[in-house]
Amino acid sequence: MSNFDDVKIYENSIVRFPLPNHKEIKNDILDNLTMGELLVSPNGNEVMKTDFHLKKKEKSKWFEILEKSLIRYLHPQLTKILNVREFTIQKAWYQQYGFKNSHEWHWHGDCNMIAIYFLELPYPEHRTQFINKFKDPREKINYEAEEGDIIFTNALMLHQSPVISNRHERKTIISLNYNIMESN
Ligand SMILES: [Fe+2]
Repeated sequence: MSNFDDVKIYENSIVRFPLPNHKEIKNDILDNLTMGELLVSPNGNEVMKTDFHLKKKEKSKWFEILEKSLIRYLHPQLTKILNVREFTIQKAWYQQYGFKNSHEWHWHGDCNMIAIYFLELPYPEHRTQFINKFKDPREKINYEAEEGDIIFTNALMLHQSPVISNRHERKTIISLNYNIMESN
């Protein structure tokens, strides 16, 4: 079981939470990332596989696997750290990056908090980068993360995925849009 000591907070804005059963669910989730397609942004950045655009009526199998762990480990921590009572996951999708792939600076609408789960992160230097535009719109937030960590922050935080520079590298993240409805 995890405890509050596992959680690290950087620059009062990035919450880092290591998912305690990451190694147990990693391959099960990866095996179920079957539906997906290439995503090319208007300025040419490519994500080799994502289910972001797929309209899903039912919960996907990979999300069902992850959701059990979120409910068991992450959500009790969020309740404590943020002192909130009620929240939901509005949307969940995965993004898989290969050689030369990247995702440009953006932020998420239709939610008030976001989480990024590093499902595959062989090179931690390729973790998501963040900018707090209300603090300093040029300075990236200093934080550490490794595979198995879930990063939690507010939805207006600008973020980008840097270019994957190793030929055989594959990075996979799960992106979660949260809405907090009730605080205590
Ligand atoms: Fe994003």
